[in-house]
Amino acid sequence: MAGGKPEALFFLLVCLLVVSVSAEGPYRSYDWKVTYGDINPLGTPQQAILINGQFPGPKIECQTNDNLIINVHNNLPEPFLLSWNGLQQRKNSWQDGVSGTNCPIPPGQNFTYHMQAKDQIGSFFYFPSLAFHKAAGGFGAIHIRTRPLIPVPFPPPADEYTLLIGDWYTMNHKDLQGMLDSGRELPFPDGILINGKRSPDGADFTVEQGKTYRLRISNVGLQNTLNLMIQDHSMTLVEVEGTHTVQNSYASLDVHVGQSLSVLFDADRPARDYHVVVSTRFTNTTLRSTAVVRYAGSSGRAFGSLPAGPGDVEFSLNQARSIRTNLTASGPRPNPQGSYHYGSINVTRTIRLASSSPGLLAGGERRYAVNGVSFVEADTPLKLADYYNISGVFRLGGIPDAPPSAAAGAAEEVRSETAVMDLDHRSFVEVVLENGEDGVQSWHLDGHSVFVVGLDLGTWSEESRDSYNLVDAISRCTVQVYPRGWTAVLIALDNVGMWNMRSEVWGRRYLGQQFYLRVYTPTHSLRDELPIPDNALLCGRAAANTSRRLPVPPALLSR
Ligand SMILES: *[C@@H]1O[C@H](CO)[C@@H](O)[C@H](O)[C@H]1NC(C)=O
Ligand SMILES: *[C@@H]1O[C@H](CO)[C@@H](O)[C@H](O)[C@H]1NC(C)=O
Ligand SMILES: *[C@@H]1O[C@H](CO)[C@@H](O)[C@H](O)[C@H]1NC(C)=O
Ligand SMILES: *[C@@H]1O[C@H](CO)[C@@H](O)[C@H](O)[C@H]1NC(C)=O
Ligand SMILES: *[C@@H]1O[C@H](CO)[C@@H](O)[C@H](O)[C@H]1NC(C)=O
Ligand SMILES: *[C@@H]1O[C@H](CO)[C@@H](O)[C@H](O)[C@H]1NC(C)=O
Repeated sequence: MAGGKPEALFFLLVCLLVVSVSAEGPYRSYDWKVTYGDINPLGTPQQAILINGQFPGPKIECQTNDNLIINVHNNLPEPFLLSWNGLQQRKNSWQDGVSGTNCPIPPGQNFTYHMQAKDQIGSFFYFPSLAFHKAAGGFGAIHIRTRPLIPVPFPPPADEYTLLIGDWYTMNHKDLQGMLDSGRELPFPDGILINGKRSPDGADFTVEQGKTYRLRISNVGLQNTLNLMIQDHSMTLVEVEGTHTVQNSYASLDVHVGQSLSVLFDADRPARDYHVVVSTRFTNTTLRSTAVVRYAGSSGRAFGSLPAGPGDVEFSLNQARSIRTNLTASGPRPNPQGSYHYGSINVTRTIRLASSSPGLLAGGERRYAVNGVSFVEADTPLKLADYYNISGVFRLGGIPDAPPSAAAGAAEEVRSETAVMDLDHRSFVEVVLENGEDGVQSWHLDGHSVFVVGLDLGTWSEESRDSYNLVDAISRCTVQVYPRGWTAVLIALDNVGMWNMRSEVWGRRYLGQQFYLRVYTPTHSLRDELPIPDNALLCGRAAANTSRRLPVPPALLSR
């Protein structure tokens, strides 16, 4: 390890620094083998991405500030990366696992992620980020528990269960990818999977009468908003992507693609089986799948017609507006979540992002864009290009702060670029997400949570600010934008790094509806950003930089 004296001293200094920056948090190690394997959830055998033989992959159960050491062995015949939807990677975009931050893990090789669930609680998920792998599985749940002694705003549930729900295709992910590559749209999905299955096999969840249970739900699908209900039971929403909510009761809840939330429900009905019903929303044909909640001593199978979820956009919009932060509850730290008054911070920059309808490039290639720019992958991860001062990989300022004003009726012009938006560390920005199309859009930002201050139908204008919720807006990392509507969010850019902003509608992201935010500070300090990991894979134009890695002691890397 540290041979000479100066290194030893440096090592000591860094250790001290590490201790002062973030001390607590035990280590949890995972060893994951990623393979192709056969599954048959919809009656057609198909190939899926398995993690340690499992579909969905293993659950990560941890606690605030735990260190997660995840060694991913890629046994696929192609490059692979996992990313972590909602895990904030404080000061550590090195581990984010998207093509803009990490080199792909080559076939037959491995990469060990070193992450920390720093100052976070809540329900999230991981997923494969390259190619169109997400359509083949490779996803799993991430649950970050509150530390003991920090109050949770509800009594401990008797048990908790995970629901990974999502639309699903029987077609191979490479064929789906091929359709997108050749300019075609994806077909309507073949079904909905709940934890990898369409229909219950016996009891999926068992409960005891008189007790309360928690369900942690994530929509890991490719495009469809899903509505969830439990037959004859209401659900109390308690958490959305790491924020404790005002505890409203709902008969059904919409979970947009890429979103996570958790609910409590009381097992207060006669002891039998009940259906958990998951159905597509805003589609002409409704897909529906069920799971079974079985009471101990159940007198019989679930029966009765499956309730239909309420159908219109207005209903969903009103539900979205009712989801607010419980200001008096604790979060990851033992203080009220309302102690940070986001509503009284001055906005330093307003950015309007319009998700454009599919555009055609010269040559007929079909692309999706943001403000007229369709993202193209670079040959080198942007984070590494930035670190090694390799120019020409991406263009800072490639995304304008407002959509280009197109002449009415004119076809939208789309250009392809590896675009990065430059933002100052500690700036506070307003981002208006605009959706001019007929489908629900869903946006996700890595590395941050955003305050969802307004959602509406119609066109955003400055007057729309009068309707913002500046008191108890929900803080989350994935937000929907309703058809022909807008969603406004406020973001405290407090996490230095290179962060993916993407449509969670996976075909759109694949065809360019994404970009990166570089949250930048000119002072290079370990206080703001961790050093490049010792085991960072180097590729593309950064492959030549191997010898230029600055020495960093192992103690720092394991955080
Ligand atoms: C691959 O796994 C080994 C342990 O099996 C580990 O020492 C090594 O750091 C891993 N490689 C990378 C690039 O993380
Ligand atoms: C639903 O059907 C209507 C009328 O046929 C059609 O215009 C619309 O595009 C369809 N919507 C979807 C999501 O397929
Ligand atoms: C908010 O959290 C507190 C605990 O801090 C709890 O007592 C209260 O019931 C919650 N309020 C709502 C409206 O959910
Ligand atoms: C916000 O801006 C207003 C008007 O420019 C100014 O008076 C106020 O001090 C600013 N508040 C903060 C917290 O900077
Ligand atoms: C990149 O350039 C900056 C500014 O010139 C310099 O501070 C930094 O050390 C360079 N990075 C590397 C890895 O050499
Ligand atoms: C990294 O490699 C690139 C391409 O060879 C080179 O231009 C750049 O100067 C190198 N940067 C460092 C910090 O070694």
